[in-house]
Amino acid sequence: MTKISRANSKTISSAVILVANKKTNYGNYGLSRTEIDYVKHELTANDKKTVAVNQYNKLIIIQTVNPQKETYKTIELWRKAGAGAADMLNQHKQSAVTICDTADDANATLAFAEGLALANYQFLKYKADAAKEKNTLAQIFIQSKKASDKQIDQLAIVTDAIYKARTLVNEPVSFLTATQLGKEFEAMGKEAGFKVEVFNKAKIESLKMGGLLAVNKGSIDPPTFTVMEYNPRGAKNKKPIVLVGKGVVYDTGGLSLKPTGNSMDLMKCDMAGSAAVGCAMFAIAKAKLPLRVIALVPATDNRPGGNAYAPGDVINMMSGHTVEMLNADAEGRMILADALHYAKRYEPELVMEFSTLTGAAKAAIGSLGITCMGTADERVKNKLIDSGKNVYEPLAEMPFWDEYDDMLKSDIADMKNIGGPEGGSITAGKFLARYTNYPYMHFDIAGPAFLLMRDSWRVKGGTGVGVRLLFEFLKNK
Ligand code: BES
Ligand code: MN
Ligand code: ZN
Repeated sequence: MTKISRANSKTISSAVILVANKKTNYGNYGLSRTEIDYVKHELTANDKKTVAVNQYNKLIIIQTVNPQKETYKTIELWRKAGAGAADMLNQHKQSAVTICDTADDANATLAFAEGLALANYQFLKYKADAAKEKNTLAQIFIQSKKASDKQIDQLAIVTDAIYKARTLVNEPVSFLTATQLGKEFEAMGKEAGFKVEVFNKAKIESLKMGGLLAVNKGSIDPPTFTVMEYNPRGAKNKKPIVLVGKGVVYDTGGLSLKPTGNSMDLMKCDMAGSAAVGCAMFAIAKAKLPLRVIALVPATDNRPGGNAYAPGDVINMMSGHTVEMLNADAEGRMILADALHYAKRYEPELVMEFSTLTGAAKAAIGSLGITCMGTADERVKNKLIDSGKNVYEPLAEMPFWDEYDDMLKSDIADMKNIGGPEGGSITAGKFLARYTNYPYMHFDIAGPAFLLMRDSWRVKGGTGVGVRLLFEFLKNK
């Protein structure tokens, strides 16, 4: 964990970073006259954005960015600068850093700290040499007149939540079974103060969650269904916000087995949607947002075991619909349909569902952003899109035309679980929308959930995508 707190008179760090712009007065930070001249020369004549002054007992880094026309783009540059600083500080074996808001720009300072903290994440649980590989940086102090205690607290909370989400995604199924996932959520509920109930297989059977049970048939491990609820006194919303996350702890494709080669290598990440919603709950409860929020996670692995559901099977879903299953690899929608149906009992104001649902979403926009679609009104969609920009988890809205629905027609059941050869991410969304009767948004995070290469503050492996988006959207509600 990288600790984030406000600097005070007792703060000691041998590294200092100046979040600077034209207004910065370099006289206040222990730089000599010649050092200041050097810094100014580098920033202006040499057009540098980062300048390091390595005094014998202190490392001072001066950071600027190129202001962009749109604020959110400038903020993202600050995050990226923070990620660059993480590397520099670790190379210099620094354990703590003080970030100075030299230009009274709280948003820049907080974004810089965020990029720094997010880039400093590591997953070392399975390394014998963990101590050697561990980043030295462990403490971030923020010195700013303009940043409020609440802003600094929330940054610390959300960073913690992202770390948790990344770790869940990085955990292989050899550890993180559906049962273990439930336990992880229980621990988070205890720590942050929200209610968690994990349904076992018997309970899932009594609820007739046919989609979840069908996917689980090829597995040796039992499924779980986790219900998390945060219901603070004085909540602003009467009808709850419901979050739903795909908890496929491993996706082999089932009997529609994914081809050998390496197409299965990343499939431990297929519960990233559940990590997003569970860890968003953690942040919401920890930050005590005045909102009633519920999260639902159907969880199982998808395997081709002896009793696996077989293409051609007709499944009785919890909603009463029948589904002709024609591809066992389209399992996410089978388990999510039951969760979305279950959500109806809350009469929700809005349901937001996160899932690594389709390769088609990844093919459409890559790993840079999230494809979304749904039936919520324009006001909600616009707020979501703004939130996506603010946290730089940008949203690309897909069309959701009625005609896509026709592609799910089955000869013998109410629908089939795959669409045609085109528009695969949309037909998946359309399938899910059949199980809703409330304003609904579907977020397909198959692209950004897990990265094979680091991209600045989005480190290699699990990214925790969705957590910051949800927190940003809900804290402004
Ligand atoms: N979990 C996969 C989607 C996925 C792909 C996640 C790449 C992360 C990275 C999902 O269950 C799946 O297999 N989808 C199929 C659907 C198809 C069979 C209709 C796909 O996209 O190929
Ligand atoms: Mn699949
Ligand atoms: Zn899957």
